[in-house]
Amino acid sequence: MKRSLTGIKPTGDIHIGNYLGAIRPGIERQKSFHCLYFIADMHALTTNENPVHLRKQTLDITATWLAAGLDATKHVLWRQSDVAMVAEYAWYLSCVTGFGLLSKAHAFKDAEAKRKEVNHGLFAYPTLMAADIMMYDADVVPVGKDQKQHVEMARDMAGSFNSIYGEGVIKLPEVAIEEKVMVVPGLDGAKMSKSYGNVIPLFSDEKTLRKLVLSIKTDSTPLEEPKNLAETPVGILLEAFAGSARYKDLEGRMSKGGLGWGHAKEEVFEAINTAISPIRTRYQEIRQDEPYLNQTLKLGAEKAHAIGLPVLNRARAAVGFLPVG
Ligand code: ADP
Ligand code: TRP
Repeated sequence: MKRSLTGIKPTGDIHIGNYLGAIRPGIERQKSFHCLYFIADMHALTTNENPVHLRKQTLDITATWLAAGLDATKHVLWRQSDVAMVAEYAWYLSCVTGFGLLSKAHAFKDAEAKRKEVNHGLFAYPTLMAADIMMYDADVVPVGKDQKQHVEMARDMAGSFNSIYGEGVIKLPEVAIEEKVMVVPGLDGAKMSKSYGNVIPLFSDEKTLRKLVLSIKTDSTPLEEPKNLAETPVGILLEAFAGSARYKDLEGRMSKGGLGWGHAKEEVFEAINTAISPIRTRYQEIRQDEPYLNQTLKLGAEKAHAIGLPVLNRARAAVGFLPVG
């Protein structure tokens, strides 16, 4: 079975954009791949996270994956920093990666354009991400468009390493860029993102969820006039949570006029709440059980270590080092 690998940074509360764009498809993928998922806490350090938040959010994401249906007995879920040899692997990649390549990375260019302080971790981010991918011999890396450049850079780094140290030392991942991955709109209609402050947290309680959904921006077409649901945040969310039949039904009713946005949003709230509430209940149970979460991550780290170690040793041998055990 092919190996599919992805990482999520433990920064900020999980919102429904993360759920629909990353977690739900990740759960689906268990049917056709051996899935390797990790919490990218080492990557989170580039923004100097508060240690208490970092630890809490790592467990929040772990519980979210498990509540959403990740089977950690068949697949692998771990905390990146528990297999810190990935930083060693990143070093081997760093030493074959030019300044020119890294300075083209969007994250670095954005930070520079905004005249933000750029630490070495942020500049070198693509090498650590490449190490994440290649130390686990990933076949497929399903990422959204925003991460496409990083995965392509990983392939470049593998190519440089192999051309210096021998073909086949590093396996080049197939990059499954998910062109069709949905972009979930936020409350204001822009992409839902914690950096825009327009999110619906995945595990809001019912009351807050309803309040947030009712606050989604809509146009001010009067109640009696026909309304176009297509490509509105309300329409996109309804389809994502309740399916296209429910969407088409509401679209038909809205287009006749006489139905207001407030009513449509109530339907969206119901749809989200129905889909999320079993996961929310499981989440609340699992999240309380920190020993279980830590044990699951520890087991995952052992499995990840066993996969990564021979790959690391291949690189060590190639550069002229002795193997580690
Ligand atoms: P944020 O934009 O809130 O900072 P992240 O960049 O941490 O979110 O994203 C974590 C994961 O969730 C990534 O796989 C990303 O592609 C996905 N994701 C984030 N926001 C959205 C969205 N609005 N629609 C679809 N997927 C999203
Ligand atoms: N850079 C990714 C993000 O910001 C997270 C990530 C780290 C990742 N390492 C990865 C994703 C390896 C896929 C594969 O969302």
